[in-house]
Amino acid sequence: MASRKTHSLLLAVLVILSFLVLAGVAAFLIWYFAVGPTKDISVPSDQVRVYSGHLVLDDIEYTDSLGSPKTQDFRELSKNLQDLLRDIYSKDTVLFKYYNTSVITGYSEGSVIAYHWTRFDIPSSNSEDLSKFTDSRVTGLLRSLIRQGGVRSGLSFTVRSITASLTDPRMTNTPDSCFYTLRATGSKQSFTSPGYPSPGYPNKSRCQWQIRASKGKAIQLFFPDFDVEDNCDDDFVSIYDSLSPEEKHQLTQQCGNRPPTNNLEVVSSGSVMLVSFISDSSSQHPGFNAEYIEIPRNTACDQVLTDQSGNFSTPHYPSFYPPNLDCNWTIKVPV
Ligand SMILES: *[C@@H]1O[C@H](CO)[C@@H](O)[C@H](O)[C@H]1NC(C)=O
Ligand SMILES: *[C@@H]1O[C@H](CO)[C@@H](O)[C@H](O)[C@H]1NC(C)=O
Ligand SMILES: *[C@@H]1O[C@H](CO)[C@@H](O)[C@H](O)[C@H]1NC(C)=O
Ligand SMILES: *[C@@H]1O[C@H](CO)[C@@H](O)[C@H](O)[C@H]1NC(C)=O
Repeated sequence: MASRKTHSLLLAVLVILSFLVLAGVAAFLIWYFAVGPTKDISVPSDQVRVYSGHLVLDDIEYTDSLGSPKTQDFRELSKNLQDLLRDIYSKDTVLFKYYNTSVITGYSEGSVIAYHWTRFDIPSSNSEDLSKFTDSRVTGLLRSLIRQGGVRSGLSFTVRSITASLTDPRMTNTPDSCFYTLRATGSKQSFTSPGYPSPGYPNKSRCQWQIRASKGKAIQLFFPDFDVEDNCDDDFVSIYDSLSPEEKHQLTQQCGNRPPTNNLEVVSSGSVMLVSFISDSSSQHPGFNAEYIEIPRNTACDQVLTDQSGNFSTPHYPSFYPPNLDCNWTIKVPV
């Protein structure tokens, strides 16, 4: 009798003990995965949204002084346009809560085209508002300006059209931060990534080169040496057929090493080009060396081929061909 009582008591103690051990293991696992022994309890960082695009202006003449951010003309017009953009964005109270700044980065000719970007900072505590930043909301807002006639009292020009789309925040250079304006001519000129050719370009480089050619001409850009890190998320060169870093105008984005047998070469469709160099980590790569030259615009690419055999190629082959081409090759053989 007594031994039986002891037995069940022992069993109860065992059950309780194993329960405590299991609970301990479970508690440890929960702590390990939820908090972790070394995991830092960091606050999620604030989010940034950037929209870039261009404005087409009427009733204003392009002058060469708009080609350099250092001139009075550039500064005055940019101040007006930046205020105008701020005004437009202020019409949307949700977006405007997070408005940081609008910047004009350059101009090109034809009608005057102004290139802009605007930055919004959304604190982590308001991250639910991130979903409100949609392209359609932003373009709708900008178009409402055009529907109103585009004129803002006190300004001497008219805004004929305006575009904006979501842009990589790393592309937000201002004209005073690692920013160059280059003028292409009929003879070859060059520029390099910072520190080239010594190995190891600086961390966190954010550099931009605006290249302009004469009206009606195009730009050819050639990289005799191109060697940046292999991971395109960290370090890369992006080239645009525009002065604003809009994705739809991107000619190419490249990283890694290009051997001399496969040099990178691109051609613009118009008289402007934007080159952007981004680096995140330090590395032992030298970066790049680039040459640019003004060339005739190759729009006439139609050909009628009547030989018995032959070959033909896209304009500027083996360069990347420029956008906006319309080429017809008509091949005729004897009946
Ligand atoms: C914009 O952002 C910069 C950098 O984070 C900050 O210093 C500045 O105060 C901000 N400006 C406004 C108006 O929020
Ligand atoms: C670049 O980053 C590395 C770590 O990735 C660091 O050791 C180095 O000091 C940084 N260099 C500069 C110039 O900031
Ligand atoms: C045709 O191909 C040959 C050899 O690949 C090349 O030398 C020649 O320039 C090409 N001709 C044209 C018109 O592209
Ligand atoms: C090329 O062909 C297309 C389709 O036939 C035609 O629509 C276009 O106008 C042609 N382009 C030129 C430049 O002749």
